[in-house]
Amino acid sequence: MNQRQLFLQHVGQTSPAPLALEIVKAKGTVLTDRKGKTYLDLIAGISVCNVGHCHPKVVKAIRKQAGDYLHLLVYGELVETPQVAYATLLTKLLPSSLNSVYFTSSGAEATEGAMKLAKRVTGRTQMIAFNHSYHGSTQGALSLMGDEYWRNAYRPLLPGILHLEYNDPAVLDFITTDTACVLLETIQAEKGVNPPKKSWLTALRKRCTETGTLLILDEIQTGFGRTGHLWGFEPFEIVPDIILLGKALGGGMPLGAFVADKALMDQFTLNPVLGHITTFGGHPVSCAAGLAALKVLLKEKWISEVPEKEALFRELLVHPAIQAIRSRGLLIAVEFESFEVNKRVIDRCISNGVLTDWFLFGSNCLRIAPPLSISKKEIKKACSIILEAIQSEYLR
Ligand SMILES: Cc1ncc(COP(=O)(O)O)c(C=O)c1O
Repeated sequence: MNQRQLFLQHVGQTSPAPLALEIVKAKGTVLTDRKGKTYLDLIAGISVCNVGHCHPKVVKAIRKQAGDYLHLLVYGELVETPQVAYATLLTKLLPSSLNSVYFTSSGAEATEGAMKLAKRVTGRTQMIAFNHSYHGSTQGALSLMGDEYWRNAYRPLLPGILHLEYNDPAVLDFITTDTACVLLETIQAEKGVNPPKKSWLTALRKRCTETGTLLILDEIQTGFGRTGHLWGFEPFEIVPDIILLGKALGGGMPLGAFVADKALMDQFTLNPVLGHITTFGGHPVSCAAGLAALKVLLKEKWISEVPEKEALFRELLVHPAIQAIRSRGLLIAVEFESFEVNKRVIDRCISNGVLTDWFLFGSNCLRIAPPLSISKKEIKKACSIILEAIQSEYLR
């Protein structure tokens, strides 16, 4: 059997038609397959590789940490320098009430931890989530997921979760003194880039404060410069009670986190002690990698260049087959008439050396979320390949 067949046979599969490209090297914005073919990466591992693949400073930090120590003990017992340094820098860059970082191994675990914390802090169990939201695939996070198609096969899930409409003012009436938390993506990514109205988010914040409900923002796709701000919530001028981090947090290594005020986080230390535990959460190599990646992001001009790069994509991607483009920074959805059209465009892009895909709840939308380090020359090249793919579909 060749590699591809072994992959299909022995690696647990998630769809009947995986991309199954055999990538052997990744550097910056370029992936190279076994035959030497290169792909310009427009998806960055789904908003993970914001500083590009294998940034030399990230790789150096991983090598250094691997030479010092790997796993030592379960999370929270020992003073591990990479964790401490990373938590310190993250909290320095966040509002002062987000000052305690609980590291996990994934985004879904960050969601789980935050849900548990909301229960402990408020003594309530009801939660509000939104249609077309995605917060992870574990059963708590899945209970929040905003689509019955994916939830239904795994029932029973957590009770007491209301799924409401994002941006709907009526949501305010559902937030009461029984609500533990309102949990939402700062921008709904998998819906195909659905941002909140500022007035709506402000009203949510106010209503949560009035009712003692925690406002939890999922920054797993929107964090680390993706929207042109270090944190996606910055332009909305509100401060959430908890944020969820993941994806780019680890600089290409597995890492998640939820961040809250220490007074809230301390709930996990009592009644019961060890209220939330993990063996590998905040792995020292992941923290060293994430810290190095964040330092690169702060040093480079990539975040400030996001708006011009976003504008360049929008300026170049003009075609009658494009029904809409929605974007917030370098999180861009290009909408077509149907999934079938989108899929043929995506397939042609991939065979012509541009890696892209669709969105979970926006299957007719093509995803553009490249490493923030992408150059203008690469954007022009990517857009000409996308336009050629659209045109060939158009002329079908
Ligand atoms: C917004 C959002 N939240 C949470 C998650 C879950 O993260 P993970 O896949 O690391 O569990 C994802 C993953 O795609 C996501 O996009």
